[in-house]
Parts: sequence; structure tokens; C-alpha cells
Amino acid sequence: MYVCHCNVVTDRDILESIANGARCVADVARETGAGRTCGNCISSLRDLVCKHCPVRVERTTERPAERELGVAGAAR
Ligand code: FES
Repeated sequence: MYVCHCNVVTDRDILESIANGARCVADVARETGAGRTCGNCISSLRDLVCKHCPVRVERTTERPAERELGVAGAAR
């Protein structure tokens, strides 16, 4: 599925970027080129990073109180 239509970047490209070490939206944008034209895809990029980035997932499992408050995994 295309996430960034301007730069023809798919969800697979973004997941691959995360697997290769990207840890934030800026890392993914730098590596894939996504989000660098109109910016309409930034919220989708953020959602994928929050959902799949291992550091953020780890943080979520380490702090159950934050998870209960609904703030864990939020983009900072
Ligand atoms: S849709 Fe990604 S920069 Fe335009």
C-alpha cells in the first residue's frame, strides 16, 4: 500500500527502513524520501513508526502505567 504518493513510498518501504534502524519519522523520511513534498503522509508515517519501532514497543511494555493512561507510544 502506498503511504507517500508524492514520493512513491509503500508501507513495506517504511517497515524495511525501521528494520534497518530508523527510529523516528525523520529517520524514515531521510531514508525513504517519504514526507518531503506535500507532507500529507506524515501522520501515516508517525502511526507506522509508533506501531512498529522496536524502541517504542519496548518502551510501551516497560511502562504499563503510561500505557494505561494512553500516552505510551505517542510520538514525541
Ligand atoms: S504524500 Fe508524502 S509528501 Fe506528499
